[in-house]
Amino acid sequence: MATNRRLGVLISGRGSNLQAIIDAIAERRLDATIAVVISNQENAGGLDRARRAGIETVTLSHRGWASRDDYDRALVSELRRRDVGLVCLAGFMRKFGTPFIDGFPNAIINIHPSLLPSFPGLHAQQQALDHGVKASGVTVHFVTADLDAGPIIVQRTVPVRDDDTEETLAARILIEEHAAYPEAIALVLDGGWRIEGRRVIRSTTAAAV
Ligand code: GRF
Repeated sequence: MATNRRLGVLISGRGSNLQAIIDAIAERRLDATIAVVISNQENAGGLDRARRAGIETVTLSHRGWASRDDYDRALVSELRRRDVGLVCLAGFMRKFGTPFIDGFPNAIINIHPSLLPSFPGLHAQQQALDHGVKASGVTVHFVTADLDAGPIIVQRTVPVRDDDTEETLAARILIEEHAAYPEAIALVLDGGWRIEGRRVIRSTTAAAV
């Protein structure tokens, strides 16, 4: 369970989900602080969004390390140095090994543009179109060693239209992503949940039933 409300946001690209988190905090819909934004790509557009919001940025390229584990350990050390309590992956295009996963137990979350467990990995929206599903959506989940497979925190659905392309479906899902990520972060930070098997169970929900 997250111990503090200091977020570390990891990006590789444009950072629209990062922006949604920045906006949610500014509008007091989310009680948190972004302690640092880390990108593995120096030209990631999200770095400018962070700088504009006055947030510290770090570029840590994944190239040139002796092993994936060494890179993972460097990431953990950057995050720990800033007392990060919850790590939010927001379009961070890297897989992690155990040094990273074990560095933040149940405190790394990811956003994925499909209703997991359907369509993990790259091009989730195109996968949904190719499969012919009539609804897709977004999933925010805890990160485990298996790709896009950890316990699910929040999902939102989006209809798939007959005339959708990968771009139009992705754009419609992205709107829901921007609502789902701050919602999931708030849920995790507020506590009162536990993980049973694959299920994230909220005590408040249990009490209300
Ligand atoms: C989003 O679709 C997210 O679900 C996926 O990567 C994309 C990142 O977009 N993991 P952005 O950089 O947040 O705009």
